[in-house]
Amino acid sequence: MADIHRITFEPVNLEMEVAEDEKILDAAFRQGIHLMHGCREGRCSACKSYMLDGEVQMEDYSTFACNDAEVEEGYVLLCKAHAFSDCTIELLNFDEDELLGGIPIQTIRTRVVGLDPVTRDIVSLRLQPIEPEAYEFKAGQYADLTIPGSEETRSFSMATTPATDGPIEFLIKKYPGGKFSGLLDKAGTDGGISVGDEITLNGPYGTCTIKDGHVLPVVCVAGGAGMAPILALLRHLSASGSTRPVRFYYGVRTPGDLFYVDEILRLGEQLADFTFVACLSESTEGLDDPGHVVEAGNVTDVVDRREEQLAKTEVYMCGPPPMVDAALALLEVRGTPKDQIFYDSFTSPIFD
Ligand SMILES: Cc1cc2nc3c(=O)[nH]c(=O)nc-3n(C[C@H](O)[C@H](O)[C@H](O)COP(=O)(O)OP(=O)(O)OC[C@H]3O[C@@H](n4cnc5c(N)ncnc54)[C@H](O)[C@@H]3O)c2cc1C
Ligand code: FES
Repeated sequence: MADIHRITFEPVNLEMEVAEDEKILDAAFRQGIHLMHGCREGRCSACKSYMLDGEVQMEDYSTFACNDAEVEEGYVLLCKAHAFSDCTIELLNFDEDELLGGIPIQTIRTRVVGLDPVTRDIVSLRLQPIEPEAYEFKAGQYADLTIPGSEETRSFSMATTPATDGPIEFLIKKYPGGKFSGLLDKAGTDGGISVGDEITLNGPYGTCTIKDGHVLPVVCVAGGAGMAPILALLRHLSASGSTRPVRFYYGVRTPGDLFYVDEILRLGEQLADFTFVACLSESTEGLDDPGHVVEAGNVTDVVDRREEQLAKTEVYMCGPPPMVDAALALLEVRGTPKDQIFYDSFTSPIFD
């Protein structure tokens, strides 16, 4: 059996045990401690913390998430770190409410009850929990879905909320040869994902959730399949009768890449103050009188042009890593405090 070590987290003064063969973030989840995290793959830096004492080693990680100088200085990615002694670790980023009050991780057998294209490269996958029959999560979180026929998983955000009628919906971008998304194109064939198949879901994960009691205007920024968690947040805000002003900037290339716009506008009608801005980076051709704001350009540039008071907003961002990185850089320049920024960078576990 692997040696066990004691981890103390500062400044919250929490303690837990971890075996040498278990990653520190996983051990924390197992013991009901919900540390700040994003990709859980060493790619996004959301779990970056500082070693005050002790010895850890990290598995493969991206130097974009933690560069060599930072590692030298004592920074560590907890999603990739194994402890080899008792350790004291300073959490750089934590949410006091979530830390001990997060929703426990569940493993759920689900059945595919819907599989439909919504654009040329995004598919709506709907899963019905079978065992257990209910899945507890917060709007904006994500789950790991097991790739059928393998032990590997891929992360996908729920587009629905627990209050949404019907199955859990995921919006999935197809990558050529993608181990999970590639199977969505092969419905009805041996090895493809088809209606009626079972898929194991493990979750919820993620911290891109609306915090109770917060009042600042909400700015949502999404690209491509990043629509999923933002749609969940909109569904939650509208169902809970939120009075916060909400602006949703959605970045795609062409009008043909837009989807679910009617649903977004319908949710917006139930909010006190809502604007949907479609940001089209390649072409706006064919979008006559769409019933919402359309801006030409990259989504981050549009946010920069339109949002004068970004430092006084709470920002939720989900989608491709280059979009999230560009938006984070903008928010830094515009002085938005880090504790007002929530994001999921849709990284892939495959290191190209
Ligand atoms: C917290 C989180 C939430 C996510 N939520 C969603 C979601 O709601 N919807 C969604 O579609 N995706 C989401 N993703 C991204 C998704 O998990 C990955 O895109 C996934 O790797 C795709 O799996 P795959 O098996 O189809 O492709 P893989 O077999 O993993 O990859 C196939 C090829 O495509 C490339 N590729 C895969 N994903 C990406 C990417 N994101 N950017 C650039 N190249 C890529 C790989 O590098 C590889 O070359 C999320 C990721 C994270 C970390
Ligand atoms: S780098 Fe650890 S959660 Fe993303």
